[in-house]
Amino acid sequence: MKAVAKAPANIALIKFWGKRDENLRLPKNSSISINLSEIFTVTSVDFSGGLDDDGVVIDGIKVDGKEKERVITHIDRIRKMAGIKSKVAVSSRNNFPKGTGLASSASGFAALSLAATKAAGLELDERYLSILARLGSGSACRSIPDGWVEWKEGDTSDKSYAHSLFGTNYWDVCDVVVVVGSFGKKVSSTEGHALVESSPFYTSRIKGMKQKIADIKRAIKSKDFTKMGEILETEAINMHVVMMTSGPSLFYWSPKTLEVMLLVQEWRGNGLESYFTIDAGPNVHLICMKKDVNKLKMKLSMIEGIEKIIVNGVANGARLV
Ligand code: PMV
Repeated sequence: MKAVAKAPANIALIKFWGKRDENLRLPKNSSISINLSEIFTVTSVDFSGGLDDDGVVIDGIKVDGKEKERVITHIDRIRKMAGIKSKVAVSSRNNFPKGTGLASSASGFAALSLAATKAAGLELDERYLSILARLGSGSACRSIPDGWVEWKEGDTSDKSYAHSLFGTNYWDVCDVVVVVGSFGKKVSSTEGHALVESSPFYTSRIKGMKQKIADIKRAIKSKDFTKMGEILETEAINMHVVMMTSGPSLFYWSPKTLEVMLLVQEWRGNGLESYFTIDAGPNVHLICMKKDVNKLKMKLSMIEGIEKIIVNGVANGARLV
């Protein structure tokens, strides 16, 4: 009745921003991501302890309030499916600071879903595990399958899940994460999603989505790095414009974020090809070919105030450990 699972964070090349159903976490649009090899969560779930109460520990600290409630709500879904009532001990460890836009909820809920279902004696196939993870945190469904992943929007809960497009060895693409700040973000993505309709640009974002997804899938399939990069960078800017123009407006960038973005475009103009993408936080993800990682790291090392650089390859999805 105890299980441990590890799940990677993922970076979306085409983003999930806005839901058609708040409770079921059904997205307004499909999204595309890669799993990250060096940013992950390891979670253990134990139903066997004869405990008086549910307990949740994250990064060595016992959590309460909303954070605990969100985890236990997810555990309740699993207890219901398995027909068990035992109290639970959840312990989760991130190898990166949570709440900084490095997708801790994605890796966290993916690892929790796999460990908890296993500990409860359930054997879910990848599709149902992905659906379950989605109910905990939307983007978590993309951390279940391996490698290059597509989350199909689906119009019902059963149809909204992620699947693998290509495996980890498909293409030598890397994500160099430039950590420019690890302060907690002001507005969580859960709150941010709810504001999308207030941006005048959201309708046009959604209108162009199907074409954008088709275009990036074609670029990935034909290994056209330049095409893929142009699409993913424009997409990140597009999402942040919606964020900044919603009411209240959401600014996830810091001055350092913008500095890195502009430099990346300048370096590209001089032949060093990488493209930026940014989630709901200030850190910048640089998507590049493996052969260019060292050149990029050299360039980045000359910028003052960068806290950390994390070089990721494309990783498998959630696994029991
Ligand atoms: O899964 P959530 O609710 O944390 O939303 C993820 C939002 C973004 O990271 C900004 C985009 C994405 O697709 O990962």
